[in-house]
Parts: sequence; C-alpha cells; structure tokens
Amino acid sequence: MASYSVIGGTSSEDLAKKIASKLKSKFIKCELRVFPDGESKITLKGTPKGKVIVVQSIYPPVDSNLVRALALVSQARKHSSQVFVVIPYMGYARQDRAFLPGEVITMSLVAKMFKAAGASKIIVVDIHSMIALDHLQIPAKNVSAIGELVKYFKKLKLKDPLVVSPDKGGIERARNFAKLLGVDFIALDKHRDRKTGEVTIRSTDHHEVRGRDVILVDDMISTGGSIVKAAQFLKKQKCGKIYASCTHALLIADAEKKIKKAGVTRIVSTNTIPCKTNIVDISPVIVKALD
Ligand code: R5P
Repeated sequence: MASYSVIGGTSSEDLAKKIASKLKSKFIKCELRVFPDGESKITLKGTPKGKVIVVQSIYPPVDSNLVRALALVSQARKHSSQVFVVIPYMGYARQDRAFLPGEVITMSLVAKMFKAAGASKIIVVDIHSMIALDHLQIPAKNVSAIGELVKYFKKLKLKDPLVVSPDKGGIERARNFAKLLGVDFIALDKHRDRKTGEVTIRSTDHHEVRGRDVILVDDMISTGGSIVKAAQFLKKQKCGKIYASCTHALLIADAEKKIKKAGVTRIVSTNTIPCKTNIVDISPVIVKALD
C-alpha cells in the first residue's frame, strides 16, 4: 500500500484518524480559529509528505466546512502533486440540477472549486445522486456504506424484516440493502412539494408490512420529514418495530425527537457525520477505495 499523509479536517477528525491508522500513515491535525466576522483560519499541525489525503465532510455549517475543505486541499497541494480528497458527506449534492426555472446548479460550482484548489481525486460516500458525481471534473469515486450498515442489522434479531425505501428514487438502494440482508423490499411513493418542501406519502395500502419489523433505508436524514411521514404510514399499516437506517444523519434541529415520536425504535447511521446515531464505521470502505 502507498504511503500517505492524512490531514484530518475539523469536520472529520475522528474518521481521518481511523483512516490514517488503517493505512499506517501519518495523521496531521488541523487547528481552526473562527474570527468574529465568521472567517475561518486553519493551521496544519504538521508537514504533509508523499501522497496526501484530506478528509473533510461538508455538513452544517455547510459553507464554512466547504471553504475549510478547499483551503486544506489548496495547502496540501503545496506539498504534494497528488491530493486525494475524501468528502464523506458531500454537501450541495442535492443541488445537482435545476428543479424550478432559474435555480442555480450549485453542485457544478462546487465541483469547479475542488478542481481549481488542486484536488487530484475525490472519494465520496453514498452521494445523493450520480448526476451530482458527474459534475466533478476530476476522477471521482462513490463508495457505499450499505454493506457496513447491513452488517449491523444482521446482528439484530428482527421479526420477518422488510426493507422499505420512503421514495421510488431510493428503490435501487433498498434493493441492494435487502439483497445483502437476504430479505424483501418495497418502495413507498413519497412526494415533496418543491416550493414548500412539504412531504406526503401517496402510497395506498401495503398489507405486506403487517406485523413485520421494517427498516426504512435512505441516503440521508435531514429534517426527518421523509422518515416521519413514512413511519406514520407504516404504523397505519400495522407494521412491527421501525428502524431507520441512513448513511448521513444530518438530524437538523429536533429531527431525532420527531422521528422517535413517530414510532421509530432506533436510528442507525455512519460516521460520515459525527452524531449520536453514528453506530457504523465507514473507514474500512474508504481505505479500500484508496487502494
Ligand atoms: C431525498 O431524496 C433524500 O433521499 C432524503 O429522503 C431527503 O433528503 C431527506 O430529507 P428530510 O429528512 O428533510 O426529509
């Protein structure tokens, strides 16, 4: 395996340490100072050598974490011609196309900025869409956390489990999850009003969920609106226990409370975003992708 220096961005320090340890590589910590006007000042607490890996997730504060990622890439480039950027959660990936006239495709700008900063390759985890990945103008790889999440669910004693995607767009994710777990899957028919953001489930009866434990599988949980509506629907169908599994748990504001109130027994997420629910470690998958 090649020798690397791993720079732990401030949003992903623990994950970066795990990656460095698995690669038996030097770990470089960053010090962050935020000025009263909101500007970030980052200091590397070591000198990168060899190929450099920058690990920085782009979760809230999204714009600040994005600028910090770009600053780290640009600094790393001064020490190495090969800068691999691991962005465990790629913010702005949901802005991959114009849904309404005049909307700016910000993902395209983000892609240009990483290229300009000097990134040689980008690795992301369960990016929201392949369209978002295609905006990146340098070699990019999307790796999946599904295998690691499934390993966790295999250890639980679930009653006749059924994998459920809250929306038709997540059908492939649900299919893969269910296949690895060796169970069936279904996809609900979710609708989101593009102007108000309001979520509704348009599905009619799903008698197959009756009495079965369900695993709601999504790429991310943000406000929790999708999981709450899906859980309420599944409860009406008289399902058993409900688990919510996602790669990225943003859990904005009181999302976790709302989800629990809707009847979800447990939220299981990965450490692409540090939070209370990040039970599953994604570092083995990232390390494999660096091979
Ligand atoms: C949407 O297509 C995504 O896969 C997620 O379902 C969505 O972004 C989750 O957002 P929220 O938790 O706010 O409903």
